[in-house]
Amino acid sequence: MTPENAPGNRWSDLDRPPLNTTALRRALLRPGGLWTSLEVVPATGSTNSDLVRATPRGEGAVLIAEEQTAGRGRLDRVWTAPPRSGIFLSVVLRPGPGVPVERWGWLPLLAGVAAATGLSRAAGVDMSLKWPNDLLVKVNGEERKTGGILAERAGDDAVVVGIGVNVTLRADELPVPAAGSLVLANAVSTDRDPLVRAVLRSLEQWYGRWREAGGDPGASGIQEAYAAGCATLGRTVRAELPGGRAVTGEALALDGDGRLVLGLADGERRAISAGDIVHLRPGG
Ligand code: BTN
Repeated sequence: MTPENAPGNRWSDLDRPPLNTTALRRALLRPGGLWTSLEVVPATGSTNSDLVRATPRGEGAVLIAEEQTAGRGRLDRVWTAPPRSGIFLSVVLRPGPGVPVERWGWLPLLAGVAAATGLSRAAGVDMSLKWPNDLLVKVNGEERKTGGILAERAGDDAVVVGIGVNVTLRADELPVPAAGSLVLANAVSTDRDPLVRAVLRSLEQWYGRWREAGGDPGASGIQEAYAAGCATLGRTVRAELPGGRAVTGEALALDGDGRLVLGLADGERRAISAGDIVHLRPGG
């Protein structure tokens, strides 16, 4: 008996069942499809680190962990969650010479759109994006971060895209009070197998469209889809920039490079390419 399902522990295996590797492989690995291998490991440090270390790996390798002991987020942050309480997965993508490398920066944004659309459908929650790639849900009317994307270059020609989603975390298990989970957002389903399938199918579709369009964010529709699902646009925000500076303005648009265009009080338009955004006023 593991500590998780020992008597007295509030979560048993029945509440947080393991993923079904065989069923996931059957559903997702098909000839001609993007996903070429799928592994579920009981625990690892970080699925992103494992795949970055393992390159060259073929495009379409999927690694899912039931638990991460050294999960990583953007800007050198940690990503923590109890075993089997969420989705912790990474994939290898190799956009190839058909997509100019300057456009690869769209991959984390594309993964955010794919995860948000897949999860909204499969979990029955309204999920939105906070620029650049936080996945938000509403818990008691308040926006809460429930997932995120970490994309990292692996060698010259590969990108490892990691997706983390809080699925069954209770309020007292959240890493920070401003976080959320699908169960706290009253998801109709928190069964992780269909949620993983929905995320990976949606990612396969969006990535296929984007790659066919040579990575063009307009022609592939990804720029429009991102803007449609983005809770940041139209809001007054504070952008906390790398290096400690901050700037406040209205989030006006997403430009062709995936940058957030802010309208500042003095009329200047400034495009932000990295940083943390704080939504200063509630959204609609
Ligand atoms: C963020 O919001 O800052 C990004 C979080 C990304 C977490 C996922 S979980 C799977 C993959 N492995 C990691 O170590 N990180 C990503």
